[in-house]
Amino acid sequence: MEDLQFKRHRRLRKTESMRALVRETHLRKEDLIYPIFVVEGEQIKNAVASMPGVHQVSLDHLSEEMNELEQLGIRSVILFGVPNEKDEVGSQAYHNEGIVQQAIRHVKEAHPSLTVIADTCLCQYTDHGHCGVVRDGEIANDESLELITKTAVSQAEAGADIIAPSNMMDGFVAAIRKGLDNAGYSHVPVMSYAVKYASAFYGPFRDAAHSSPQFGDRRAYQMDPANRLEAMREAQSDVDEGADFLIVKPALSYLDIMREVKDRFNLPLVAYNVSGEYSMIKAAAANGWVNEEEIVMEKLTSMKRAGADLIITYFAKDAAGYLDK
Ligand code: PBG
Repeated sequence: MEDLQFKRHRRLRKTESMRALVRETHLRKEDLIYPIFVVEGEQIKNAVASMPGVHQVSLDHLSEEMNELEQLGIRSVILFGVPNEKDEVGSQAYHNEGIVQQAIRHVKEAHPSLTVIADTCLCQYTDHGHCGVVRDGEIANDESLELITKTAVSQAEAGADIIAPSNMMDGFVAAIRKGLDNAGYSHVPVMSYAVKYASAFYGPFRDAAHSSPQFGDRRAYQMDPANRLEAMREAQSDVDEGADFLIVKPALSYLDIMREVKDRFNLPLVAYNVSGEYSMIKAAAANGWVNEEEIVMEKLTSMKRAGADLIITYFAKDAAGYLDK
């Protein structure tokens, strides 16, 4: 043993206080963004079966939800509207009295200090469930941009603090930025779903938001999970077009992409810890197969270590509770 040469890394792991001293990554409540599904109607609080702990709520339940978040110290939400009526062109997405526009006003009136992020997409609002306009069985890019821009402007008009376009049409950041600027909202930032993969991890969300495509899939606009360089091109375009934040989505299977985006670009980076990633842990924990608290904190910390500054997560409330311990 005497002449063995090696390093003693365990010196820095000896006690919890020593480990805390050398910890490189920290999860903060300020990093957490909580998604909320808002439905039309009154007195509705529907549990989403595939996402234990997540509900669709009507406007009259929003205040209760916001009070809980404020008490927990969560200061940002992302709102998804789930309309009653859908049509070919998703007109409820850009209606002044649309469900998400009402929800934004509601939250901003009662809780002005909360940051309200509006998800900007058409898929919950179109009867075919695609994120754009369908022409001859294809998603028409440029025509969709007009509607998406209208949606973003109506959300800004309602008081959204941040516009988060998730539709994956080419040029959506440029179109929305121009639309917002022309309408007098040059101060409203765009949090772009810059790198969004066509992922099976979105399954439970589509139950919650009623947004499954009624034919085909989203692979002609969302990205192929096999591609890395393409993700860099997507992110680059959004930076060039004027995005203020970049989202990588999903999170867990794409930590490599997150790290690379973080190293290449200087914008705040957001991880979207998506529905399937949530449901898998909830299901395993409900079976007693994993320790929920430990696994949630481990995975959220991993996202930050991979370079995420912020995390959109259905675990936000749980995590805030754990951070208080
Ligand atoms: C809408 C949208 C989706 C998600 C966020 N915005 C679904 C999709 O693209 O099919 C998924 C979020 C999640 O799974 O938690 N375009």
